[in-house]
Amino acid sequence: MSRSICFATSEFTPFAKTGGLGDVAAALSAHLHRQGHDVRPFLPLYASLQREGLNLTPVDFLQGIPLQMGRFQLSFSIFTTLLPSGLTVYFVHCPALFGRDGIYGKEWDEYLRFAGLTRAILESCQRMGWGPDIFHCHDWHTALLPIYLKTVYSWDRLFESSRTVLTLHNLGYQGIFPSQALADIDLQDHAELFYQEDLQAGHINFLKTGLLYASVITTVSRTYAAEIQTAEHGMGLEGLLRKRRDSLIGIVNGVDYEEWSPDRDQVIPHPFSIDQMEGKRLNKKTLLEQMKLEDDLETPLLAIVSRLTAQKGFDLLFDTLAPALASGRARLVALGSGEERYAEFLQWLQSTFPGRAAFHRGYSNDLAHLIEAGADIFLMPSRYEPCGLNQMYSLRYGTVPIVRKTGGLADTVQPYDPEHDTGTGFVFEHFTPTGMGWALDLALRTFHETPEEWKKLQRRGMEQDFSWHRQGRIYEQLYDKILGQAESS
Ligand code: ADP
Ligand code: GLC
Repeated sequence: MSRSICFATSEFTPFAKTGGLGDVAAALSAHLHRQGHDVRPFLPLYASLQREGLNLTPVDFLQGIPLQMGRFQLSFSIFTTLLPSGLTVYFVHCPALFGRDGIYGKEWDEYLRFAGLTRAILESCQRMGWGPDIFHCHDWHTALLPIYLKTVYSWDRLFESSRTVLTLHNLGYQGIFPSQALADIDLQDHAELFYQEDLQAGHINFLKTGLLYASVITTVSRTYAAEIQTAEHGMGLEGLLRKRRDSLIGIVNGVDYEEWSPDRDQVIPHPFSIDQMEGKRLNKKTLLEQMKLEDDLETPLLAIVSRLTAQKGFDLLFDTLAPALASGRARLVALGSGEERYAEFLQWLQSTFPGRAAFHRGYSNDLAHLIEAGADIFLMPSRYEPCGLNQMYSLRYGTVPIVRKTGGLADTVQPYDPEHDTGTGFVFEHFTPTGMGWALDLALRTFHETPEEWKKLQRRGMEQDFSWHRQGRIYEQLYDKILGQAESS
């Protein structure tokens, strides 16, 4: 059945992206649109928005709309752009909130920015006379939408049968702010609906509030859905998640193979496919040249493309990478930005092993594609990983992943087992340098000593199918289920 679905998100590739959330919001909404649903994604018109391909059209009846947020009198306008897929994206233009550098900020009014986005989305729906079947919220930034529906907008019959889905992409970011913020986001009169222990401790938690009031909660892999109900991975929310476990479901992310497939990739110089692998070698040559690494196609090239945060497990590389580089058994190319200690380490590798290790600090979509296409082994030793997209991209590009068995990495990479001729990557369990060292050593030995095995391993990875067709269907069934419950209640 065709549904109307409002996507409320802070990121949307290619316009605003810091990580996988942008990819997932864009690809899932485009997929649902192609399935015939009326999908309308809303995101901020950040000043730093990637403007390429963005042909903004003002929505004439949604210009200069007043938005009172506590003591702040704001106003916003809506602009749209039509994507080649036929999907229309809605941008909330509110310079007071989004007219500054970057996507996320560290200023005092971060709560106002995203509560403001959430309110602007609801105000826009009202003025469009559009009461979507589903409000699909993503992460803490739009997690207040369910409570706003319950309170500030409860009078409006337009939203009477709307249901809410909150997708958890990462519990590491919860949106925790001083409780004084309540007045500014117009929820002071509903303080009783917030988690009382938090209020007593002087703060509010956007994500937790979303967990309390969303009709259903999803997260981006089955294993992460189980992990977050434990103290080890729940980041303080495990009790609440356990209470709501009947409404919590893990759905592994899909991959947009239009963008991330070596035979269709618009960015890489040499397309290739499972039966035409020559292009991979040529991409490796280009990549080595571009990164000023030695022109050596025989030594395995390790790769990193990542936000540089503790989540990604780079602490395990401190002791394990240098010996592999020093022995000449491996080369390294890394792309990333984030925490200084990891950037410094990668910088140190580059200067200690010139020609063998290269680090590009920053963000580059083109280089990310070339790395996937040209490298041999992808490193993702994450401490925790809700889903992870890069390991799935790597599989498709024949770049064998080394991953830790956690979250979506456990769900998408099968451990290499030469005896049974199975597996798609190297999987280690314990978050220790020994675990990482074992996996790296096994990968390098397999590459160097059994090239035929390596080819089979690559092939099995390239054959995996993580397309949105399969995963999108699960979201559709979920929407049907909660709306069915609503229709029959
Ligand atoms: P996360 O969302 O936790 O960062 P994912 O693996 O889900 O992890 O998604 C990361 C996405 O961000 C991928 O599309 C990856 O290519 C991209 N990415 C991360 N860092 C960079 C970077 N420095 N330059 C280009 N793309 C990057
Ligand atoms: C988050 C997670 C990552 C996931 C992405 C998209 O940023 O860290 O594991 O793939 O969201 O869901």
